[in-house]
Amino acid sequence: MNLSQLKESAANIISSNETKSFKLQAICNLLKSEISYYDWVGFYFKNGDKKELKLAEFAGEPTEHTIIPFGKGICGQVAVSNENFVVQDVSAQENYISCGWKVKSEIVIPIFVNGKNIGQIDIDSHTVNPFTKNDELLLEFICTKISHII
Ligand code: SME
Repeated sequence: MNLSQLKESAANIISSNETKSFKLQAICNLLKSEISYYDWVGFYFKNGDKKELKLAEFAGEPTEHTIIPFGKGICGQVAVSNENFVVQDVSAQENYISCGWKVKSEIVIPIFVNGKNIGQIDIDSHTVNPFTKNDELLLEFICTKISHII
């Protein structure tokens, strides 16, 4: 699938009649299966009133990092910065929570509802330096669509 086909498939999933959880899982599965260098795809959301993220749907190996305090790791930093975080080489990051030696790079894109950062999509890759602007554009497109069903 090319970028526009991926966007179309993702949009179809999000506008379908399924539950929110089904849709988020389907997005994880779509991205992991269609993009060769996406080895783990998951959603983290703010955990109630707590200053922490909680893992929701994901595709890939289970992780022990189901709760991440704001400010900790790449995910926790995005929870406070409100900005995309593209890490082409995780070994160059000091504030990083490892999910295994195989992970070499990571991209996290925040999800905003009414201007508030309520969660994020997180991708781990086993390849160094895999991400381009197209990854950010695709994931921003998906996060914007998702913000309408949260
Ligand atoms: N590496 C992340 C932790 C979550 S896992 O990638 C699933 C981080 O540094 O926040």
